[in-house]
Parts: sequence; C-alpha cells; structure tokens
Amino acid sequence: MAKFPPLLLLTFIFTLFPLVLSYNNGIGKPTPPLGWNTWNTFGCNINETLIIKTIDMMVKTGLRDVGYEYIVIDDCWQEMERDSTLRLQADKKRFPNGIPYLVNYAKLNGLKLGIYSDVGKKTCQGRPGSFEHYEIDAKTFAEWGIQYLKLDFCNLASGQYEQPWIYYSEMSKALNQTGKPILYSICNWGDKDPWKWAPQISNMWRVTHDIFPVYRWMMHIVSVMNSIANYSGPYSWNDPDMLEVGVNWTIAGGLTIKLSENESKAHFSLWSILNAPLILGNDLLNMPQWVYNIISNREVIAINQDPNVVQGRLMETIQENTFDGFCYALPGFICKYTEIYVKRLSLNRFAVVLFNRGDAEIESDIRYKSEKMLVLWDKHLGVSSTQLFMVRDLWLRKNIGVFSTKFETITPIEPHSAQMFLLTPM
Ligand code: GLA
Repeated sequence: MAKFPPLLLLTFIFTLFPLVLSYNNGIGKPTPPLGWNTWNTFGCNINETLIIKTIDMMVKTGLRDVGYEYIVIDDCWQEMERDSTLRLQADKKRFPNGIPYLVNYAKLNGLKLGIYSDVGKKTCQGRPGSFEHYEIDAKTFAEWGIQYLKLDFCNLASGQYEQPWIYYSEMSKALNQTGKPILYSICNWGDKDPWKWAPQISNMWRVTHDIFPVYRWMMHIVSVMNSIANYSGPYSWNDPDMLEVGVNWTIAGGLTIKLSENESKAHFSLWSILNAPLILGNDLLNMPQWVYNIISNREVIAINQDPNVVQGRLMETIQENTFDGFCYALPGFICKYTEIYVKRLSLNRFAVVLFNRGDAEIESDIRYKSEKMLVLWDKHLGVSSTQLFMVRDLWLRKNIGVFSTKFETITPIEPHSAQMFLLTPM
C-alpha cells in the first residue's frame, strides 16, 4: 500500500481543514456582518423612501461609523411577475427608481445593499422565488451591485425539502460564477442541520424559525446556538436571526410586545459573544435613546468583531429548583438559573458574559432573584489562577480593577439581565 510521507500528509490535512471550516468567497472581512434588515419592523410595508431615509439615518446617527454596513431589503420588494427576459423586477410603485439606484445611494453613503429571494418557486410572501432561476437571479443581483443575498426556504416541492443543500448549493455556485463577492445568507430555519452542510457553501445559516421580541423564544434560540458553537468560524457563522433591540410588535387587541431594556442588553451581549451577525431589526427613524445606546456600544461590538472569529462558549450553567429551564418552586421558594459565557479573544484576552437567565415569563417574576456572579480563571477561562487581568465592564464602559484567581460582580445581576466584561492580561 502506498504510504504518504508524513510531511505531505500533514500539509494535505492542514490545507483541507480551512476549506471545511471556512468559506471565503471574497467578501472581505472574516468577522460577522453588521447591518439592518427591513423585515422585523416593516414586513411588506417597504419602499424606496424608507430605504433612503434609513441610509441617511445610518450616517447621521454615526451607526455606519460604529460598523453597520449592510442595508438589507427583505421580502416584498419584487413585482409579482418576472419581466419578459425572466429577470426579477422591483415593484414599480414602491421602488420607482429600481434597485441599482438604491445600491448607488448606499454606495455614495459608504454602505452596501443586500436583497432577499427564496430557494423555492415563490417567496414566503408569494413573490417569484429563485427556483430554476438561480443563475439569472445571481447574475441580475451581481449586475445591480448587490453585496448580500438572503435566501429563504418557502415553496419548494415536498420531496425537495429532504435535501435543501442541493438547491442552496446551486445558488452558491451561481453567485460564485458572477465573480462578485456577495455575502450569502441561507435562511432555512435550521431545517436538516444546516450547520453541517452550509459552512461549505455559504457565509451564514439561520439556526431556528423566526425570532420575535419574546424573551423565552430568544432563550430557545440561544440554547440552539450553544449546542452548535463548533460550527462557527471565519467567513461562516451560525445565525440566530436578526436583533430585536427596539422592535415593537403589535398583536391582537392593539397590545405591544417588546423586550425590556435589560433583556435587550442581554440579547445584544449574547449575540455579540456568540459570533452572530448583528443585523438590526428596529425602526432607525424612530429610535429611543436607550435603543441607540445599546446598538452603538463599540466595545461590545468589538467583541463580536474580534479577529479570532470564534463563537463564545457556555462554560457553566447553575440551576436550582428548575426543570428544563422552568421554575417549579412552590411559593416561598426561589429559583436560580445563571449562565457564564466565555470567548477567547486575540492577544490572550477574554470576553465574559455573566447572565442571570432566570427564565420567568415576566421580568418582575419574584421566583427569581438578583444574583452576584463569579468567574474563576481556572474553571471558566482555563488559565492559571496567578494570571493578572484588568477587568473592564463593557456596559458601564469602566475599568473595575486588576484581579487574580477570580472576579465577582460588584452589583447583583437582575433576572433577564447580563453584565459583560473584557479581561486583558497584565
Ligand atoms: C421567512 C424568514 C423571515 C423573513 C420572511 C419574509 O419567514 O424566515 O426572516 O424573511 O420569511 O417573508
């Protein structure tokens, strides 16, 4: 039997490995994208003016300079029919100047335009999908100057749902054939474990069904993210869906549901440390100051954008009187559900999120209490207790001090809230 010389074998393994772990289709940065998407606030109620005003706001508020880059137009931008040459066309009433006009407007403002289509025959809102038109659509998007494509998962034929990778790969090939760097975002809701096949053909893949501004659903998404941390890396990211910071949902009876400020901070901290794309879903034209303060925190965003490009890990969960994350304590008893997340950063630094998950239905639920939390160097970071770290609170934006062995939060962390720290070796 032929034997590989050991060096050749090693070279072979090391050249193959990055191919499997990362998918560099020329998009530039290996870190997750930052941007904004129309869907979570506006649904189908979108038009050219909204996009122009949002681009203006990205610039005016300084969010562009914080790092937000992609403006993504989700479903409902299309006419109901393709044109006579079979190309997708923008809804003429809502987008009278067409998509290239918006691409250009974004470009003039230092931003990139993204768009949405569907792997099946129709989009989820019944517009024409890309099925059997992957090449012509990829070509059209490339010619328009689109730099990000989100491809949804509605309206395949039933048998085709068994092997979604076939159809998503076809679009991947078509995008690559254009020779243009287009960030490719697969949106198949976590069906058939996309983290196992999507890293080879795309930059990001949704891990669950759609997010909405309800704490417990957000926690479900976080649990899924924790179970697949290994699959995230340079140029390829697990996608827990868009940010719900500042998103209001009006439901039956005119009731509004939204995340509280504490929940929103925890949400942003977790998305950041979990190497998730940071795609805003809120209305930038009507943005309360507290929302702006969260989404513009450069220090939290820097954790997400660290050049190591790894997903942070859940290092410890402490649960008391809970089962499957639900509090079963009788009145008078207290439940506890805390989590410690760690991300190893460049330059031997660490990011830490201390999270009082306290998974009650409402924030004021008295069955959970505020908790002080403790990080131990050896147990949670895997470094020697003698190591000195400067600990910086990233939400207070303040250095707390230099510590060895461990760090305990100065203030207790309320249920549904997180504190986030940067540890720099001294
Ligand atoms: C699906 C996707 C959403 C959004 C809508 C648009 O539900 O998961 O993110 O794109 O379709 O129709």
